[in-house]
Amino acid sequence: MEKKMLFAPGPVITTERVKTAALIPDICHRSRYFEEILSELRPKILKIYNCDDSYTSVVISGSGTASNESVYSSLCGSSDKVLLITNGEFGNRLKDIIECYNIKYTELKYEWGEYPDCEDIEKILEKDKEITIVGMVCHETSTGIINPVKDVGNLCRKYGKLFFLDAISAVGGEYLDFSEYNVDVCTGVPNKCVSGHPGTSFVVLRKNLIKKAYDTKPRNIYLNLGRHIKIAEEKNQTPNTPSVIMINVLLESVKELLEEGVENRIRRYKKLARIIREGLYEMGLEIFLTDPAQMANTVTTVYLPKKIPMNEFLTEMENEGYVFYDGKGDLKSKNLFQIANMGNLDEKDCIEMLKVLKKVLIGKFSYEIS
Ligand SMILES: Cc1ncc(COP(=O)(O)O)c(C=O)c1O
Repeated sequence: MEKKMLFAPGPVITTERVKTAALIPDICHRSRYFEEILSELRPKILKIYNCDDSYTSVVISGSGTASNESVYSSLCGSSDKVLLITNGEFGNRLKDIIECYNIKYTELKYEWGEYPDCEDIEKILEKDKEITIVGMVCHETSTGIINPVKDVGNLCRKYGKLFFLDAISAVGGEYLDFSEYNVDVCTGVPNKCVSGHPGTSFVVLRKNLIKKAYDTKPRNIYLNLGRHIKIAEEKNQTPNTPSVIMINVLLESVKELLEEGVENRIRRYKKLARIIREGLYEMGLEIFLTDPAQMANTVTTVYLPKKIPMNEFLTEMENEGYVFYDGKGDLKSKNLFQIANMGNLDEKDCIEMLKVLKKVLIGKFSYEIS
């Protein structure tokens, strides 16, 4: 199979070290070898977010949606009501989960790419006393916007609400400090900014919510967070057969992240995004988000000139060895595509990608740089 340069928001290119972590001997998940993996991994996940020992983590065999579903289905009881803030595809997916489990909620909906206004949020929290939980996505991957996590966390502190954060495309790529941002529960995956492989995900939560997880009436078996926490806390185990190998790969990618240093990793991603954005501007391409302060360190959503057909463009780029994503939802009809700089990429990779992009646009699609 030919190697492709993945410039899409996950899965990402991983190092040989991370790939090699899949080559461990076959082990039984009910053995001390597996328990050693989990006992090393769980505190390391907390380190990524600078969490103190008032937090714990669990690892779920299943992609990010499994962790999001586990959180909402297991922590939203019959007396809870969620204020869900949405401004893109992944906010909508949280809504799908909430609706599927018949959780009471109110939605504060913004246009895709629109920055949530904390005054709107505060007005709702002041008025609707039924709300107990605020949910949102940190990095809305569908547009590349970073939502106002710190401000929303502070509002949750002020009004005594729980704060559930989907940090699936933010963890390892954006600054996130849980005590500073007042995050109660958060979900993440390896196969984006952590630079691991897909198939597992993790939940970090405040220990004082463990009782809530145990007490909430179970709505499912596999994703029941209480079951996951109980066996993880008691013996670093999982309730059902886990993806043993992928959990070892997750451990290696988290070790690699911590060795690079979360701040250095973020700095590297920020630099790569800057190189990519400057290159796009030089080519006369327009970026969807206009305020650099709101742009993620790892995803850039770009307008493809209208006369260029998206599918042909993506295929040409793939033939040249580069994988991008086309826009989701309405962004597709606006001819938007996404370039991500997550995973094992460096400056040279980004510069080379820009050269190929220019060559394809000019050579295959007669694009003229204005
Ligand atoms: C912010 C966010 N939330 C949730 C998901 C869904 O995760 P998964 O596809 O791993 O289930 C994604 C996937 O890209 C995401 O970016």
